[in-house]
Amino acid sequence: MIPREIIDEILYRSDITDVIGSYVSLKRAGSNMSGLCPFHSEKSPSFTVFPATKSFYCFGCGAGGDVITFIKKAENLDYPSAVEFLAARAGITIPEDKKYVKSDEVSRRRVFDMNLEAAKFFRQCLFDEKIGAPGREYLAKRKLSGATIKHFGLGFAPDSFNMLTDYLHSKGFSDHELTTAFLCGKSQKTGRCYDYFRGKVMFPVIDVAGNIIAFGGRVLDNSKPKYINSSDTPGFKKSRNLFALNFAKSCCSEEMILCEGYMDVIALHAAGFENAVATLGTAITPEQARLMAKYTKKVIISYDGDAPGQNATNKAMKLLSEVGLEVRVLTIPDNMDPDDYIKAHGPDRFKQLLESGKTGFEFKLNGVLSKYNISEPSQKIRASAAICEIIASVASAVEREVYIREAAKRIDVTAETLKNDVERHRRKMVREMRKNESSEALKTVHRYGDTVNPDAAKNVKMSSAEEAIIGMLLQYDDHRAAVANGKIELTADDFFTDFGRRVFRSVMELEMSEGGFSFSLMGESFNPDEMGRMIRYVTERKELSQNTLDVLRESVNTLKKERQSHADRTGDDPFAALRRKREALKKKKDEQ
Ligand code: CTP
Ligand code: MN
Repeated sequence: MIPREIIDEILYRSDITDVIGSYVSLKRAGSNMSGLCPFHSEKSPSFTVFPATKSFYCFGCGAGGDVITFIKKAENLDYPSAVEFLAARAGITIPEDKKYVKSDEVSRRRVFDMNLEAAKFFRQCLFDEKIGAPGREYLAKRKLSGATIKHFGLGFAPDSFNMLTDYLHSKGFSDHELTTAFLCGKSQKTGRCYDYFRGKVMFPVIDVAGNIIAFGGRVLDNSKPKYINSSDTPGFKKSRNLFALNFAKSCCSEEMILCEGYMDVIALHAAGFENAVATLGTAITPEQARLMAKYTKKVIISYDGDAPGQNATNKAMKLLSEVGLEVRVLTIPDNMDPDDYIKAHGPDRFKQLLESGKTGFEFKLNGVLSKYNISEPSQKIRASAAICEIIASVASAVEREVYIREAAKRIDVTAETLKNDVERHRRKMVREMRKNESSEALKTVHRYGDTVNPDAAKNVKMSSAEEAIIGMLLQYDDHRAAVANGKIELTADDFFTDFGRRVFRSVMELEMSEGGFSFSLMGESFNPDEMGRMIRYVTERKELSQNTLDVLRESVNTLKKERQSHADRTGDDPFAALRRKREALKKKKDEQ
């Protein structure tokens, strides 16, 4: 466990508005800040940061919590890693021995150190007279200069089962560490470690902090698979990193080029386009889109000209525009990829291609038009309908206007006709959206399908009382003290929902602990959805004016009373029947 005082220090130096502000563009709204929620798609801001209580809440999707919960969700980390992430951001180093490391867990630092040693080994091999010859030959064939090879730290994994394993053993790394970092596999038969990358050109993947987080290895011939990559390790999630962002980050504030492959990026950087990055052998993820939005305003998608490349372009366009990036699309002729194109036509021609990069709309329009023969009336109608659908989904009216004019010209109809169709389509879409939204809202009102607190649906009166109690205990020191010193009698057993009980126990445990209560520490035992729910209870209480100790006492009484009558009614309480019998007996006696 990371010690309490270190966590407190990290929290003290991690201003929630600052931290969230680097993910979400926030605007002042009274004493709070609001912006578009990074956790669900929305057009008007329902995401709110409350600086006073150091918390956030999205009224649209229910995401909420403290600054650590935010990082957990945004960076997809567990509690200790989120704390480490914030520590690094605040310039605090957590002493290695104070880190939260389970006995068989390999720390991020250790994986990075191991990767660095491995990269040194691969580089030595590449430049070794004998061992490296096949690797050097391959890279020369791909026209990479010595400078480029050094710049990217490329290397060569010899065709051997034990050279890397032996080398890393000699540097003090254990079998368990080697397999955790995916540098080695473990033989089922002998139980011994063996080199995972063999006979491959090696591409180190480096994060923006300069750590080597993974490797990609390419075969030297046409055999399959063409590439193998490290799987996710404690230091590395493919879905959250981009190849060459460590270089691109300093020259991409205006625009960034997104490619499919390592070799494309390397060829582009070598040709002077140092703002190129690539995903890591996977389709682009929302996290990667958000990452790009942190560094640039505009992304030029430069995927392969083949059919899979063009399909991937559609997906990337959607994700990138959802995070507010301006998107352009390059269509590289003759099914080439950027690497092939630069080799065939040189950097200047590629630059021209970049400048002619199409807007996402043009790309889609061309896609539709290539599918239909618009000189035939029936096909022209179908094409026009498909185009209407595309334009209708654009949020800005000005943009829709521009696209309508452009499309009308291309399919040869009047802009007016097209506009009518677009607006009709748009009204239909809005209606459907409203319908979906209201059924979502209904679900929450009726507490139906609630995965955070499934018991709540069983009795609204009791669960409302619980929500009020938790909402007050989480925000008022006095209220927690009153429960702690017995002024208000309340125990975990009084709670009716499992969630309520767990929250109450955790709150009171922290209250009694040496450091006292801290909402942020609850994130260790509660997941982000549960943290969000707690913030909802707090937010709901805040909107009510009365939150005195008397109100708490009243809610506690309601909970207890309701609990009793509920138990009697449903027979939840095994003693209820007995008690009723006894009471009946007593009554009879009294009457006699
Ligand atoms: N890729 C992968 N595994 C494969 C094939 C591809 O991880 N079996 C990833 C690699 O990151 C690769 C990218 O997908 O760089 C694009 O694949 P592709 O276009 O086939 O490769 P190129 O980058 O063109 O590779 P090369 O030019 O070396 O043939
Ligand atoms: Mn290629």
